[in-house]
Formats: sequence, C-alpha cells, structure tokens
Amino acid sequence: MQNTWTPSQRAVRAAGQPISELMTQALGRPELISLAAGFVDQSTLPAVEIHAGIDALLEDSRQTKHALQYGPPAGDPTLREMILARQLASDGIAGRAIEIDRVIITAGSNQLLYLLADTLLDPGDIVLCAAPTYFVFLSIVKNIGAEAVGVASDENGIIPESLDETLRAFKEAGALPRVKAIYLMSYFDNPASRTISADRRPKIVQLAKHWSMKSPIRVIDDTAYRELRYAGDDMPSLALHDEDDNTVIVAGTFSKSFSPGIRVGWGVLPKKLVNPVLDQKGNMDFGAPNFSQHIMVEILKQGLHEQHVNKLRSTYSMKLSVMLDALQHHLGDVPGVQWSSPSGGLYVWLRLPEDLDTGPDGPVWPIALKEGVLYVPGEYSFPEQGIRREENWMRLSFGVLEPELLSKGVELLAKSIRRGLEGSL
Ligand SMILES: Cc1ncc(COP(=O)(O)O)c(C=O)c1O
Repeated sequence: MQNTWTPSQRAVRAAGQPISELMTQALGRPELISLAAGFVDQSTLPAVEIHAGIDALLEDSRQTKHALQYGPPAGDPTLREMILARQLASDGIAGRAIEIDRVIITAGSNQLLYLLADTLLDPGDIVLCAAPTYFVFLSIVKNIGAEAVGVASDENGIIPESLDETLRAFKEAGALPRVKAIYLMSYFDNPASRTISADRRPKIVQLAKHWSMKSPIRVIDDTAYRELRYAGDDMPSLALHDEDDNTVIVAGTFSKSFSPGIRVGWGVLPKKLVNPVLDQKGNMDFGAPNFSQHIMVEILKQGLHEQHVNKLRSTYSMKLSVMLDALQHHLGDVPGVQWSSPSGGLYVWLRLPEDLDTGPDGPVWPIALKEGVLYVPGEYSFPEQGIRREENWMRLSFGVLEPELLSKGVELLAKSIRRGLEGSL
C-alpha cells in the first residue's frame, strides 16, 4: 500500500499567497525593476545607529548576558515601558493609566497580527477590513479559515456609514456574533497610503462598541507607517477614543521607521486579550528575540530612533516626488489614469480605466514583465467578500529604488500601461 501524505487544512489554505507569486517573479528575474517590494530604502538603513546601540549594550557585561539569554515572553520590561510612554505621549493621553502588562513585544508586527487572528478568530468568523487592505493580513485570516469582508473606503479611510451598514446587515442576517474584529491601518495604509481623518476616528471606535452586542468587536489599528509622515501633523491613534481600553488594539513596529531586520514589533492590547495572546505566543516562540529588544532600548535611550526617522522623512519625501513627477511626465496625458499623491507611507496607488485588469491574467501584467518592471496588482488587496473586488489598481512602491531607477521603472510601467490600453480598445 502506498503511503500518501496531505498537508493540514491550514497548510493548504496557506498555499498560493500573492506574496509568493511576487517573490518568485522578483527572485527569478533579478534584472526586473521592482516597484512592487514594500521594503525600506537600503541606503538609509541605520548601520551607524545600530553600531552605537550595540556598543552601549556591550559596555555592560551584565546587561549583555541578560540580552543573550531568553527574555520574558511578553518582552523586555524596559522596552515595553518606553514603547508605552511614546504611544501615550503621541496619542495625547500621557495621563491615562495604562498598565505595562498590556504591552507585548513581538518579532515584527506581522507576528502580532498572526497571534491576534489566532486568538480572536475561529473558522467561519469574520473580520471587516477597509478595502483595499494589507494583503498579507488577508492571507492570515484565510489561513485560519475565517473570512475577511471588505468595507468601502475613500481618501479619508474607511467610511463610517458603510461600516455601520455592513454591521447592521450582519445583525439582520443573525451573523453579528461572527464579526470579531475590524482591521484598519489608520496612518498611510498599505496599499493606498490613506490616513483615517480626525472626524472619522471616534466614529469608528463608537461603531465597534455599539455593535459589540453579544460578543466584543475589536478594532485592530495597525500603525506600521505612522512615523513615515512627510507633510502635516501627526494625529492620535484610535486608542484615544477607546476610553475604557477594551476595544482598540494598537499594533506597531520599528520595521518601517528604523529597520525591518531587527524584527521588533509590539501590541498594546485590551487587558482581557493579553494572556490568551501570550498563550499562543508561548506555543510559537515564548518571547521575541531578546538581543534585538535590548539594542532597541539603547537606540531609544540615545534618541537615535527619532534622529533616524527625521532622516528617513527627507529621503522618502524626495523619492515620492521623483515618482509623482515621473508619473505626471509619462502618464499625465492618458485619460482615465489617476494616482494618489500621499503625504506619507511608502506607496502610490494608481488607478487605470475600469475595464483594464492589472492582475496576472490581465493585459498589463505580462507586458510589464516583458518590459522589465514589477508592480503589485491591486486585486490582491481586496477581500474576496464585501465590496466589489476592483481589478484596475496597482500599488507602486517608492521606498526601495534609487531615484534614477524609480524614474526608469515608471517609464517602463507607463509604456506597459499605454500598450495595455491600446490592446483593450
Ligand atoms: C500594514 C503593515 N502591517 C504590518 C507589516 C509587518 O511589518 P513587520 O512584521 O516587519 O513589523 C507590514 C509590512 O509591510 C505592513 O505593511
């Protein structure tokens, strides 16, 4: 008898993620100019700052040994205190008594998103997402056997009236208890670089509380791009509007504002979620890399993080201008092609005429690959359910490439779009 092996249901659901397709293309053809990768700028990575952080740590042999040992599963207490103090200060709620126990350090914020999904969702449960949304989060939800449902959003983020309507429809269908969370990126989201406007922020939290009838609906505020602001003033996170601290989960990371390689992310969680999330974390790694956390403490202590963010802001806003100028130059005269002009984040969100599919089965993708340029097809960022999945968008990243290659990439992309448009006439 032949032994056959089939992967678990979860492994089957994990297969075929968009990220794998993109990585395969990018790695298989290194000559491609990638406007797809959401990586940070290589030249700005904080090698000098890391050196200073490590030097300071190594000067103290007791601390060094401490850092080389396993750390507490929730993370290093000093780092947690520093992160909480920063968040409370930037949210303007420095006086709010939030216990340090509610802060958990994770190996990047993606790990936190995974742990949250694992803790909040059973198969068949629902997460509402502003559409478009972070496509890796969609894969996480799918992996668990839960469903992501897209809610309409515009330049000011998720539309509260649409969120309300969606929740009402679930209530009327008797499905409200399946809705466990609303996932949002309230600053410069991935892929559209939209920020939720100040007037919408309290409404969203109030709606989550209002519709938390039989079971709580948590709001996950993924703040990955908060610090990458190139114009205007910072705004408090959604946590400001959660007065009883039982609805909003803030996810943060040093990946975009400092270094993704250091893999330090965090969550500030409602108290009731802390132990269940830590139980899952115990199964996964019983603590994020301790050495990285100790280095981050030194970096924060010396003010090197703030300094670095200031440098990043000028590099990225220069690159954003390069991309916007190139788009205007090469596509400004093409009817029906529009793009966002964000004031932060790492992405420009570009729209083609309605019937022009940007996905791997559409006309533009193969031409772009032939021309030598890669982008993220917008359809990956739309949940399968909820508002209609739109196929005529592209996510363009300006973070990674040097200015000349950015311009060249946009030129090749424009050529592909024009040819795609001619073919569709
Ligand atoms: C919106 C968003 N959240 C979370 C992450 C995960 O980042 P990390 O795990 O490096 O903290 C990313 C990475 O691109 C992202 O775009």
